[in-house]
Amino acid sequence: MPKTSVVSKAIAAAFVVLTVSVIGGIITMIILYKTEISTMNPTPRPTRPVSTTVLPPVMRLPKNLIPLSYKVFLMPQLYTRIIEKVNVTSPNQTMDFLGNSTVSFQCVERTSTIYLKSMNLAVSNGKVKNENTNKMIEVSAMKTHRDDTNFLEIQLREALEEGGNYSLFLTFKGEISENLDGMYVSTYVEGVPEFLVATQLEPADARKVFPCFDEPDMKAEFHVTIIHRRDTIALGNAEISGSNIVDDEWKYTSFHPTPKMSTYLFAFTVSEFTATPSTHERVQINTYARPEATAAGHAQYAASITGKILSFYENYFGIDYTQKKLDQIALPDLAAAAMENWGLVTYYEGSLLYEEGVSSVLNKEQIATTIAHELAHQWFGNLVTMKWWNDVWLNEGFATYMSLFAVDNVEPTFQLVTFEMDALASSHPLSPPQEEVQKTSSIIQMFNSITYCKGAAVLRMLADIVGERVFIEGVKVSNYFKPHLVDMVAHWLVARFMEPWTKQIGYPVITINTTNGEVNQKHFLFNDSAESRHVKIGYMWNLVRVSTGSTALINIFKGPILFKKDEFLSKNGEWILANINCTGYYRVNYNPENWDRLLTQLEIDPHRFPPMNRGQLIDNAFFMARAKLVEVTLALNSTRFLRKELDFLPWQLTVRNLEYFVVMFDRSEVYGPMQAYLREQVKGLYNSLRNYTDKSTIPKDHSSQHSQMLAIEVACSNELPECLEMATKMFADWMNSNNTNPIHPNLRSVIYCQAVAAGGKKEWDFAWARYQSSSDTSEKEQLRVALSCTKKTWLLNRYLEYTLDPDKIRLMDVDSTISDIAWNPAGHALAWNFIRAHWDYVSQQDGDMLINAVTSRFSTQFELDELERFKAEYDLGPAANEVYQAIEQTHVNIQWVRENKDAILEWFERETAE
Ligand SMILES: *[C@@H]1O[C@H](CO)[C@@H](O)[C@H](O)[C@H]1NC(C)=O
Ligand SMILES: *[C@@H]1O[C@H](CO)[C@@H](O)[C@H](O)[C@H]1NC(C)=O
Ligand SMILES: *[C@@H]1O[C@H](CO)[C@@H](O)[C@H](O)[C@H]1NC(C)=O
Ligand SMILES: *[C@@H]1O[C@H](CO)[C@@H](O)[C@H](O)[C@H]1NC(C)=O
Ligand SMILES: *[C@@H]1O[C@H](CO)[C@@H](O)[C@H](O)[C@H]1NC(C)=O
Ligand SMILES: *[C@@H]1O[C@H](CO)[C@@H](O)[C@H](O)[C@H]1NC(C)=O
Ligand SMILES: *[C@@H]1O[C@H](CO)[C@@H](O)[C@H](O)[C@H]1NC(C)=O
Ligand SMILES: [Zn+2]
Repeated sequence: MPKTSVVSKAIAAAFVVLTVSVIGGIITMIILYKTEISTMNPTPRPTRPVSTTVLPPVMRLPKNLIPLSYKVFLMPQLYTRIIEKVNVTSPNQTMDFLGNSTVSFQCVERTSTIYLKSMNLAVSNGKVKNENTNKMIEVSAMKTHRDDTNFLEIQLREALEEGGNYSLFLTFKGEISENLDGMYVSTYVEGVPEFLVATQLEPADARKVFPCFDEPDMKAEFHVTIIHRRDTIALGNAEISGSNIVDDEWKYTSFHPTPKMSTYLFAFTVSEFTATPSTHERVQINTYARPEATAAGHAQYAASITGKILSFYENYFGIDYTQKKLDQIALPDLAAAAMENWGLVTYYEGSLLYEEGVSSVLNKEQIATTIAHELAHQWFGNLVTMKWWNDVWLNEGFATYMSLFAVDNVEPTFQLVTFEMDALASSHPLSPPQEEVQKTSSIIQMFNSITYCKGAAVLRMLADIVGERVFIEGVKVSNYFKPHLVDMVAHWLVARFMEPWTKQIGYPVITINTTNGEVNQKHFLFNDSAESRHVKIGYMWNLVRVSTGSTALINIFKGPILFKKDEFLSKNGEWILANINCTGYYRVNYNPENWDRLLTQLEIDPHRFPPMNRGQLIDNAFFMARAKLVEVTLALNSTRFLRKELDFLPWQLTVRNLEYFVVMFDRSEVYGPMQAYLREQVKGLYNSLRNYTDKSTIPKDHSSQHSQMLAIEVACSNELPECLEMATKMFADWMNSNNTNPIHPNLRSVIYCQAVAAGGKKEWDFAWARYQSSSDTSEKEQLRVALSCTKKTWLLNRYLEYTLDPDKIRLMDVDSTISDIAWNPAGHALAWNFIRAHWDYVSQQDGDMLINAVTSRFSTQFELDELERFKAEYDLGPAANEVYQAIEQTHVNIQWVRENKDAILEWFERETAE
C-alpha cells in the first residue's frame, strides 16, 4: 500500500533522486559494501603505491598481495567411533589433522615478505613460485608471531614484483579442537559415543585450519579436498566433484571450486549423518542430521521450508543463489545458533530439528527464523560482504531484517513482530571506527544484540523512509553498480542520512508539546549526568520521521526543524500519536496533557491505535519514568487499558517492564495490591483463552498461542484461582497418566512451574524423577527450571544441596539452577546464604548470572552492607566485576525504592480499592 506523505521541501528534493533505479547501492554506499560478482566487478586494477618503503603491519594484513585462489588438502584423522584397539582408557582415537595448501596471489606492491595469518598450526615446507616464469623463489625464514596478530611471516631471498603472479605452498599440522572453534570435534550418543568433525571459522578462526589471508575482504576461490575415514561422508562449501577410496582406511572427497568468498565462510564436515532432501527447481538442497533424528523425521520441517525460502530470496534479490547445492547440517555442538557458511550452513540441533508433539510453537518459529536468517546471508554477507568487522551490522542487520519477510512469505500465520528498543543499553555505535575493532577479541564483541537488533531496526526505518518498493529495488544485488553521477549523489545522501544512526551510540527521544506544537530531540539516557560522561554526541540524528495519527510525515533534519509547527499543535484538545507502527528508531515523550488524552483514548477504545503503538505507549511510559522524564504513576496509568487487551505485544511489554517492580516489591506490602491489580487486569485475557487449555487444544494463530502462554504465566503467578486450579489439574493428569504427557508442548514450561509452585512434595518429587529419567534436552531443561518454582523453603534448600552433587545437577547447570532459585522470592535469601557457604564450589563456573540473580532484590542499606562485606571477605576471582556491578545496582535500587515506593503503593491500593 503506498503511503501518503508530507515531506519537507529540502528532504523531498534530496529524495527525488532516490528513485527506484538509482537507489541501488544504498548498502554499497552506506559503508562501502563490496560485491564480488565477477561479471559486474572485474578485479580492480592494481594501483601504483606512492611510496615503496614498507613498514611492518600492526594488526591487519598488508594489502600488497591479493589472493586469487587456494588449493587445500585437509586430513582429519578422527574416527567417528572409539576404536578400542589398544585398551579402553587409551583407545586409538586421534585428534590430529594434517594438511597442505597452495595459495595463488597477485603482487600489487613490491615486497620480499609474505604475511598470512596462522594460529595453533605447525607450518613447514614453504615454497614460493613465480607463476609467470615457473621459477622457484627461495624462502629464507619463516616465523609465526605468537601474539594477537597471528602473523605467519615468510621472508624471501628475492622480492616479489608488482604485477606478478605467485603461489605459496605450505604443509601444516594441527589438532582438532575440543572447544567448538576452528576445526572441532562434536560428540553425541546413538547407542555408542559418536564423533564428527565440523568447522566454525567466523570471525577469525580460518587461520586455525590453514594459513590464509584471513580477512573478510581478501576473497578467493577455494579448491578443496578432504581426506577422511572411508566409512564417513565429507561435506564442503561446493558440490562434490569426485571421491575416491584409496585404501582400507582413507577416502578422498574433492569439491568443485567455491565462488570467490571470504575465509570465514569456509566450512566442511566429516560425519555419518544422513540427509533429508528439499525441493527446489535448480538447487540441490539437503538437510543432514544424526541418523536417528533423520529417521524419526526431525529434519522434515526444516526441509519443507528451506527450498521455499531460497526461492523467495532469489525473487526478492533478483539474483539466483550462486551455487548448485545447499547443505544444512544439525550439529550436536555449535558455538552459535547457526552459521551461514556458503553452501554448507551449520545449525545447533535445537535450531533446526523439530519434533512433532514435543517441540513448541516457539521452536518452530525459531527454526523458520534461523533458516531465513542464514539463507539471507547467502546474499548479504556471502555474496556481498562488509569490508571489515566494524560494519558487521550490515551483514547481521540485513539478515535479521530480511528474515522477517521470508518467514512471512512461507509461514504467513506466524506474524512475527519485533519491538527491540530495550536491548540497546548504550555501549557501542552500530558502526564503530575500524581502528577500534582490530583485535580478535574486539571483533568477537561486535556480535551482540546491538549489531543484530539495532541493525535491523535502523534498516527498517530506512525502508520506511524511502518506501518499501524503493528499498526492495535498492537491495536487489543486481542494482549495485550504476555508475552515474546522480547515483553517487543519491548514495552520498543516504549515507549522510544514515550516519547519525550508525555512528552514534543509542537513540534519541523526541519530545512533542502539543500545546505549542514544539518538537525537539535529545539523546535518550536513563541518567543524564552519569551516562552522558561516557557518550560524546557528535551530531543530531539527522533524519527523524515522525508520523502522526493521520499518517502525516514530518522530518527533522540537522538541528533546524523543517516542518510546519502546527503539525503537532492540538487545536481542539485532540490527542496526537507519533511514530505509527514504531518504524522510527526513537522514543517519544509528550506534554502531560497529551499523555492524558492518549491514555484516555486507550481506555475508551484501545483499537484506535495499532497493537504496536499500544505496546509502544506502555514501553515509552516506563522508560520515560526510569529516566525521570515522567512520573512513575503515568507509567502505571498506561497499563489500565490492559483489562480489555487481548493482543500479545502490549502484554509482553508490560510484563517486561514490570519485572523490575516485581523484584523490588515482591517481599514488601506493595506486592499484595500489585498482584490484586494484575489479577484483575489479566482476567479478560485469561478467560478469552482458557477454553483452549481445558480442551488441550491450542489457538491456531501464533500470536494467540503466545498470548496464551503469557496469560497463564501472569494469571497463575498473580494467583488467579482458576489458573492455579487449571495448572494443578493438568499436572496431576500427567502424574496419573502412564507416561503420556497430556500437556501441550507450548504450555509445558509454564504449567510445570506453576504446578510445582502451587503444589508440594508430591509434585516436586514427580518433577525430579522425570528430570532424572528424561533424555529429551528441552524437557529436562523445563523440569530443571520448574523445580526451582516451589514455595516450600525446605524443598528449595534440598534442591540447593543437590547442586553440590554433579550426579544430580551437572556442573554446567549449577549456576543457572541456583540463579533460578534466587529469582524465586522464597529462595532468594536461601540462595544468597548458600553461595557464600559454598563459594569455592559454585564459583568454578564464570558466575556472571549467579551474582546478578542472588543480588537482584537488594534494595536496603543492610543488604548493601552485606554485599560490601562479601566483596571484602571472599576471593571473588572473575566474579569481582559482577559484584562491583551488583553494588552499583544496589545503590540504584535503594534510591529507586525510596523515591517511588510510596507513590506506587498508593497507586495500587487506590486501583484495587473496592
Ligand atoms: C586403530 O584401530 C583400528 C581398529 O583396530 C585399526 O584398524 C587402525 O589401524 C588403528 N589406527 C591407528 C592409527 O592405530
Ligand atoms: C592403556 O594404555 C595406556 C597408554 O598406552 C597405558 O598407560 C595403560 O596402562 C593401558 N591400560 C591397560 C589396562 O592396559
Ligand atoms: C598435499 O596433500 C595431499 C594429501 O596428502 C597429497 O596428495 C598432495 O600430493 C600434497 N600436495 C603436495 C604438493 O605435496
Ligand atoms: C501499521 O501496521 C498495521 C499492521 O500491523 C497495518 O495494517 C497498518 O496499515 C499500519 N499503519 C501504518 C500507518 O503504516
Ligand atoms: C508546552 O508548551 C506550553 C506553551 O508554550 C508551555 O506552557 C508548557 O510548559 C510546555 N510543556 C512542556 C512539557 O514543555
Ligand atoms: C493517573 O491517573 C489518575 C486517575 O485518572 C490521575 O488522577 C493521575 O493524574 C494520573 N497520573 C499521571 C501522572 O498522569
Ligand atoms: C468457554 O466455554 C464456556 C462453556 O462451555 C462458554 O460458555 C464460553 O462462551 C466459552 N468461551 C469462549 C471464549 O469460547
Ligand atoms: Zn547472521
